[in-house]
Amino acid sequence: ARRFVILVSGRGSNMRAIVQAARAGTCPADIVAVIGNRADSAGLAWAAEVGIPTAVVSHRDHDSRESFDAALAAEIDRFAPDYVLLAGFMRILTSGFVDHYRGRLINIHPSLLPMFPGLATHAQALSAGVRVHGCSVHFVTPVLDHGPILAQGAVPVLDDDTETTLAARVLEVEHRLYPQVVRWLAEGRVRLDGNRVIVDGENNRLLESA
Ligand code: GAR
Repeated sequence: ARRFVILVSGRGSNMRAIVQAARAGTCPADIVAVIGNRADSAGLAWAAEVGIPTAVVSHRDHDSRESFDAALAAEIDRFAPDYVLLAGFMRILTSGFVDHYRGRLINIHPSLLPMFPGLATHAQALSAGVRVHGCSVHFVTPVLDHGPILAQGAVPVLDDDTETTLAARVLEVEHRLYPQVVRWLAEGRVRLDGNRVIVDGENNRLLESA
């Protein structure tokens, strides 16, 4: 089976959704490690509890992004992954790190890219007044939140939404979308054609809220 390392910073609910899909057999992926940048991450604690190897590489122990990223890559590479999944990993990565994992580094972002890159995406969506919002799973490139898109999930924006209610609606779709993409990667069905992603047998890669 293809090997996946997942990077988390906090809650880790997307990582949990992926691990649960892998363990349920719906996604033939081998989650070989969960690595975090914060020792107090709830996601890391959960992964350790369910018996997945975990490691912490703290950004506080490094005085430059280059030094942190080199330590992080060394830790990741001990597990020899085919793919590295960012799942709520809240550090900006250097282009050296991104290049090292070219075509193998994936992220989930809580907006319909290329709209609303960066932080506070649900607040950005509410203040823009869009009626459709969602999440994107994309390959990571050196330009933040701009790599080739593997799949997207869409939800309506309602008049009485707050950041909290909108975030919850998007998160529910994230938890279905990311395991789905991991399954395609695990099955070896994903290729890149320039800036476009092709997944054999998946013509429609838009997921909509239930
Ligand atoms: C998720 O909504 C993810 O899309 C977002 O952080 C949350 C992490 O939740 N990621 C980003 O904003 C990346 N810039 P989780 O730790 O429970 O998966």
